[in-house]
Amino acid sequence: YNELKPFPKDFLWGASTSAYQVEGASEEDGKGKSVIDMMDHPEDTAGFTVASDHYHRFKEDIRLFHELGLKGYRFSIAWTRIFPEGTGEINEKGLQHYEELIDELIKYGIEPIVTLYHFDLPYALEEKGGWGNREVIDAFVEYARILFNRFGKKVNYWLTINEQNTLILHPGAVGVPKGGKLPTKTSLYQQNHHMLVAQGKVMELCHEMCPHSQIGPALNMTSMYQATSKPEDAIAAHNWETIRGWSFLDLAVHGKYNNLLWSYLENRGWQPEILEGDLEAIGKGHPDFIAINYYSTATISESTGDASDVSPRAGDQQIMLGEPGVYRAEENPYVDKTKYGWVIDPVGLRLTLRKVYERYNLPIMITENGIGAPDVLNDDGSVRDDYRIDFIQAHLKQIQWALTDGVEVFGYFPWAALDVVSTHQGYAKRYGFIYVNRGEFDVKDLKRIKKDSFYWYQKVIESNGKDG
Ligand code: BG6
Repeated sequence: YNELKPFPKDFLWGASTSAYQVEGASEEDGKGKSVIDMMDHPEDTAGFTVASDHYHRFKEDIRLFHELGLKGYRFSIAWTRIFPEGTGEINEKGLQHYEELIDELIKYGIEPIVTLYHFDLPYALEEKGGWGNREVIDAFVEYARILFNRFGKKVNYWLTINEQNTLILHPGAVGVPKGGKLPTKTSLYQQNHHMLVAQGKVMELCHEMCPHSQIGPALNMTSMYQATSKPEDAIAAHNWETIRGWSFLDLAVHGKYNNLLWSYLENRGWQPEILEGDLEAIGKGHPDFIAINYYSTATISESTGDASDVSPRAGDQQIMLGEPGVYRAEENPYVDKTKYGWVIDPVGLRLTLRKVYERYNLPIMITENGIGAPDVLNDDGSVRDDYRIDFIQAHLKQIQWALTDGVEVFGYFPWAALDVVSTHQGYAKRYGFIYVNRGEFDVKDLKRIKKDSFYWYQKVIESNGKDG
């Protein structure tokens, strides 16, 4: 191309968080316990109970988001604040809290982008079998109905389930139940099926109750490269891409079990029980857009069929692990890594966007993308996170390439608006534009400090992506 297309003029420049990672106040105002509150997190003590104290400081935070220039803020609602037991009695204080948060955003002209469910299932439901129990489908639909009813007029964009593929492929990444074991693959794929039915029903309900709103799934989408031109590597890479990505989106968008996934499940005896009406419910879900969380790419070769396939050669990132007999993850010599071992691959974002758009032809919102780093607060009050600027800058450039390729991308929500507790690596691994003054165990004064990336992203937004 001679010239890159500019960002569309109404592009949604945003940033993301999720309830349990940012709110704290985990036992306040009637909130019930979620699976996150009940899991073993090795680093965590005050981690999720205080988090970034956004529950109490959201007004101050939104003022900073306004100063940053955000056009949208993606956050999740904690199911346990609305239904402490997952179902049954409604906790009005929970609804009031999110109403205040949404109103505050709207006051500043910031679009609220609401995730219904981001990893934090009510523990009361978990005790009854969690997503493995079909009753959770109705509980989720009822929870969504309450939210659509209360906030439907104010919220234009809803996200159903955050990273359903991570929940199913890597349940351990989100935490291990205290003293508990991880679920079997059979039960995970049954959970997956129930989530899909629930998601289909909720999308249909959203269209009925909030005709002006849009709703979509938010999966972790990661492109892959085959390690060599060996034909068997190409098959393994295709296995990887389908089992970990396409199969989830095929169900969410077309309501169909992907043939390769189904054969893989059947072959292992892992296929879910499907009751009459389930596929119809999944198929009625029609998303209006696709949201993707993008962090990095994988490089895949033929499986050697032994345990070495699953050794974490690609650093800490569990997503990169292989599966014996199916695919093997390799190092990619052409890309860098973060301090936490995650592959940095901006070009992979362009590729992912092209593939997702070509396959589903729906507009795309990028709901997560970012770099986790042990940021340092200097004595002069500065946080010099030039690596974050470099990371986001390089990814924005690739979004522009994708736009130029003809892909419809309408929003970018880097992870994270402010520092949050990482899902499985504590507080020292930071992602935000705003530094939160607390340590891993010492919550200090939780003061908000603008990082260098804050001032940089502010300019990007102000110039609609021209400066930066
Ligand atoms: C995504 C999740 O998978 O990755 C977030 O949706 C999470 O909740 C983010 O925080 C980064 O992962 P981590 O483990 O570094 O916090």
